[in-house]
Amino acid sequence: MGAVDQATTGGHLERYEEALARDPMSAFGLVREWMRTDWRSLFAELREHRPIFVTPAFTVVTRFADVTEVLAHEQVFSVRAFGPRLDAALGAPFMLARDATPMNWREKGLMRLMLDPRDAAGVRELAGRLADELLDAAWPDGRVEAVGGLFRPVALGVCARYFGVPGPDPQTLGRWTRAVVSDGFANFLGDPELQAASVSAGAELVAYLKDRLAELRATLRAGRDLPDDVFARLVRSTLPAGAGVTDDRIVTNMAGLPLGFVESAPGAMVEAVEQLLLRPAVLAEARAAAGDPERFDPYVWEALRFSPFFKLLPRLCEREHVLAAGTPRSTVIPAGTFVLAAPASAMFDADVVPEPGEFRLDRPRHHQLFFGSGHHACLGVHVAGPVIAETVRRLLLRPGVRLLPPPEGRVERALGIFPDTFRLGLGDDGREG
Ligand code: HEM
Repeated sequence: MGAVDQATTGGHLERYEEALARDPMSAFGLVREWMRTDWRSLFAELREHRPIFVTPAFTVVTRFADVTEVLAHEQVFSVRAFGPRLDAALGAPFMLARDATPMNWREKGLMRLMLDPRDAAGVRELAGRLADELLDAAWPDGRVEAVGGLFRPVALGVCARYFGVPGPDPQTLGRWTRAVVSDGFANFLGDPELQAASVSAGAELVAYLKDRLAELRATLRAGRDLPDDVFARLVRSTLPAGAGVTDDRIVTNMAGLPLGFVESAPGAMVEAVEQLLLRPAVLAEARAAAGDPERFDPYVWEALRFSPFFKLLPRLCEREHVLAAGTPRSTVIPAGTFVLAAPASAMFDADVVPEPGEFRLDRPRHHQLFFGSGHHACLGVHVAGPVIAETVRRLLLRPGVRLLPPPEGRVERALGIFPDTFRLGLGDDGREG
């Protein structure tokens, strides 16, 4: 299967050094821009020549062993880089904003119990049904705007029926998640408008969930049937007295479900579909395998390795640490350093991932970092995985799914991260069918 160009002679480091000597702010601007538009060749050059890339403003970590070291040392590399903004939006502490605290440990345990991996088959079926309905509706147009017409409605539908969080309507729930997550993961310059939008959207989401909780409690007290969803499961569950799972903690953790899902699942679907459609030979094989989810899913995971949705995970170094100790790249990271761990780069580190430029279906799960790693590894992995894979599968089961030439086919992304539009051709256009 085709190798993808992994040229390492991008000259980024030379241009960075020149810019730094002239004007440090322009040098950081260059790196930020490259991370958005040219990350693959930037990371390839860094892995080879500057695997721990120290700049006066931030440090980028690019090798597999070092990325997992950062993510495994939560007391050294904390989520204080973005966590406080999540807390502010929810008006209460949340697991992804707290490292190594009893709250993180206990509530992640509780929510793992609620998001039972045994739900995966049912959730997959639900996502598949929703995807087919949406694809049927788009079919006569010969086009689908895959973000607004397929990926987000599937994610919002799963939120409604599986989590039990429909929101007042899907658009409003989607507006809330976009506002909160944008501030949490994209607002490193502290834009006050993004921050204010996040806090007010978070307050609306929390108020909505409080009302929903009150309704569920009233239903339970009246002896009527509760719906079969995660919210009701949490309300019904018998927890030890004094466990501290108050109504406020239930609401905060329920807020974490749409927040964790509605932006990142469509983001991952866009990346996976684009990577598959860019490789005609792989695509033909994937389509041939699409009748069988077990054979099909590895295509999705390998596509996502080529372009994970979360390319960088931000951390704050809380105390001095020697990263990659005992290796030639050993580097002292001073307390206070803003660290960007790059899973998108780590998954191309040939020291760990054999033939990283090849599209291979035999990659072990422990080489895949698109659901994070270590202390904050994704809570929703067992249900998000089937939703992503099944939605992509139902799409590719349709004949003639294809990229459209730019500008029509270009993926438009809010803040350079969150996909808003991705137009695809659908059905016979005379080229295939
Ligand atoms: C059912 C859907 C999902 C839910 C409920 C969910 C929820 C969460 C939560 C609560 C955390 C924080 C865990 C902790 O702090 O210990 C987390 C982490 C993470 N999730 Fe998910 N998530 C979902 C889907 C996804 C998807 C689709 C992706 C991308 C493919 C993703 C990628 C990640 C990553 C990379 C992290 C680690 C963040 C970090 O270390 O900074 N998640 N998720």
